[in-house]
Amino acid sequence: MCGIIGYVGKKNNALDVIIEGLLRLEYRGYDSAGIAYVKDGLLNIEKEKGKIANLKEKLDFNDKSNLGIGHTRWATHGEPNYVNSHPHKVGKISIVHNGIIENYSELKEELIEKGYEFKSSTDTEVACALLDYIYSETNSIEQTIAIFREKARGAYALGIIVDDDYNHLYAVKKDSPLIIACGDNENYIASDVPAILKYTNKYIVLNDGEFAKISADKILVYDENADLRKVEVKEFKGDSNAVEKNGYDHFMLKEIYEQPEVIKATTLPYIEKGVDSLVDNMPDFSKYKKIDIVACGSAYHAGLVGKTLIEEFANVPVTVDIASEYRYKKLFLDEETLVIVVSQSGETADTLAALKIAKEHGSDTLGIINVVESSIARAAHQVLYTKAGAEIAVATTKAYSSQIALLSLIALNIANNKTMKQEEVLEVLKGIRALPTQMQSVLNEREHYKEIAEKIYDHDSIFFIGRDIDYALSMEGSLKLKEISYINSQAYAAGELKHGTISLIEEGTPVIALVTEEKIAEKTISNIKEVKARGAKVILVASENINISGDFYDELILVPDANKLIKPMLTVIPLQMLSYEIAKLRGCDIDKPKNLAKSVTVE
Ligand code: AGP
Ligand code: GLU
Repeated sequence: MCGIIGYVGKKNNALDVIIEGLLRLEYRGYDSAGIAYVKDGLLNIEKEKGKIANLKEKLDFNDKSNLGIGHTRWATHGEPNYVNSHPHKVGKISIVHNGIIENYSELKEELIEKGYEFKSSTDTEVACALLDYIYSETNSIEQTIAIFREKARGAYALGIIVDDDYNHLYAVKKDSPLIIACGDNENYIASDVPAILKYTNKYIVLNDGEFAKISADKILVYDENADLRKVEVKEFKGDSNAVEKNGYDHFMLKEIYEQPEVIKATTLPYIEKGVDSLVDNMPDFSKYKKIDIVACGSAYHAGLVGKTLIEEFANVPVTVDIASEYRYKKLFLDEETLVIVVSQSGETADTLAALKIAKEHGSDTLGIINVVESSIARAAHQVLYTKAGAEIAVATTKAYSSQIALLSLIALNIANNKTMKQEEVLEVLKGIRALPTQMQSVLNEREHYKEIAEKIYDHDSIFFIGRDIDYALSMEGSLKLKEISYINSQAYAAGELKHGTISLIEEGTPVIALVTEEKIAEKTISNIKEVKARGAKVILVASENINISGDFYDELILVPDANKLIKPMLTVIPLQMLSYEIAKLRGCDIDKPKNLAKSVTVE
């Protein structure tokens, strides 16, 4: 969601750096793009609705520029059109903004009274006018920022150019991601480090409330109290490769196929090589009496799987909440509660806010995060990293399964020698070692998934049902399908259908039914028979060990049997593949579904 990039440098390379950076931020999702750059002492602004390619066509890359800011916008206030696109310029101030200024309506009224006129419907233009007004009163950008921070409520990362000073780039941040990158005779700001890796891997973290004044060879960072602070230059060690599709039609497909490797990499640090035993590499969970898992979207669904596993195997009560709800509900937090936040990007605004609240309540926090050094990773007391690598497709696949892998290992760690005997733990570890091969065998069934997709892709509505862990997986399967194919889909606890939902089942309605647990298989199969009797076309996803005799399904997908702590990572694959094949048949933009963003940095 939204990308910010800024350049100040002696190599006069602003256009190249900004466009390259925006392209690298493209995966986050956006609906318009724009750039402001200084050329021959004048500021030029170009912006365009839609793709960066449209913006590029308007630019002359022979233009030399020492200073510029660029933006990909994911509209929150005002439709995605030319006027609403960033950068915005009011008076002497030009800005790009990520986030939301919550009190923009009242600020706008005050500014209109002072004579300001507004062209766009954005909160950003109001922020820009506010900065211009304060600057016109104070004539000092430092003071302007300090007063702005008092007046503006909400989240913002801002890249700022001031007309009186084309040798400096300014930046301020609160609750939206922004880093400063350090080059040779040139410096940059960016929403994330990979955006700028072509030029440098050195960066400085800008903390909430901080403000930076950046020239080609100097970076000054002021803390919340406007005091100059010492900066610590970090080195990014992550994967700098431009992410390629490697022959796959889509990043999503490539990422689905990467899962066996990702699971191996994610679990390896916790399993003793050669000797099958758990490595004591995890936090000490012994002092916690309960766990709260907080996340959004698929990460929330991973949390639901984690809850089932931790409660069943480790005998610790777990609640799972959607981060945007957790923030506003009554919390029962204390020193004996561990709050686990799960996030691929590590930048999700709601999850970050929930984490901060948990910390304020004095609870320990643990992040399950994919992006190293992301905002949530930095803010959590402890972090376990998923090793999914860069995930480009908006619909998560490999990050989701690696989150489950870590939650499963947490369950195993707590259970080890308490609720589970040594032999049982060893059995699971053996299973984890065998998992990549089993996952590969499920992936090898692509032709089968394609055949099934052909039979259901043109339906308007598809249901998913399951009980217990299969219900949690159904929710993820349904979200995948909705996100990328735009088919209306719902997931239901199989036993709940008869309380209302079954009225939606018509002749031919596809129902994807999950049955992977022996002890509740019979019950779920009864529910499947209920929908079958009402005309549903049943696609049964069953574990090999389940007795599925009888005439209650139309299509069958078998997944290998495995311990319950492992099986979700197998069961989810057919769901991901079916969504992919269905979306492909419907001609959807699979990697960048409409209206969605990879990194949701607004609340
Ligand atoms: C998943 O396919 C979605 N695009 C989305 O639900 C995502 O899981 C959610 O926005 C949370 O993101 P995070 O893991 O980066 O925090
Ligand atoms: N709220 C701003 C807008 O709608 C910024 C959105 C963004 O973060 O891209 O323009």
